[in-house]
Amino acid sequence: MARHVLVVNGPNLGRLGVRQPDVYGHQDLETLRKDCTQWGHELGLDVEVRQTDDEAEMIHWMHEAADGAIPVVMNPAAFTHYSYGLADAAHMVGDAGVPLMEVHISNPAARDEFRKRSVISPVATGTITGMGFFGYRLALEAVAHIIGQEA
Ligand code: DQA
Repeated sequence: MARHVLVVNGPNLGRLGVRQPDVYGHQDLETLRKDCTQWGHELGLDVEVRQTDDEAEMIHWMHEAADGAIPVVMNPAAFTHYSYGLADAAHMVGDAGVPLMEVHISNPAARDEFRKRSVISPVATGTITGMGFFGYRLALEAVAHIIGQEA
């Protein structure tokens, strides 16, 4: 049976396609959902894509992932830069022994000063930036690789 993987997206990523297309591209969240689901099929993963503007909801999703030992691909969006609550919750996913891959569509290191710090990177298994939606594919490949090694 395909392993369940959560692909979670933080605030304003529901606005993909209309939000700064020069930075985030012209494709919307629905396209990202379809892409990730398809990539999951190819990799033997049962991918579920979620998005929220609510920090508490994102934290609760991490509790769900930790309790269920569900691997996570996370684009924390702006929470990346300041949410210690989300970082602590992401830490628990790692403690559950499953990978948590951090993804950014853009390359935050090449942008505003406040984007250069991620409070999530220290607790992530790995981070992929600047590759557009393809970064999610790379992150799913990393998840498949890591859980495949454990099998
Ligand atoms: C982002 C980068 C963040 O700095 C920003 O707040 C986002 C999206 C990205 O995918 O490039 O909302 O995480």
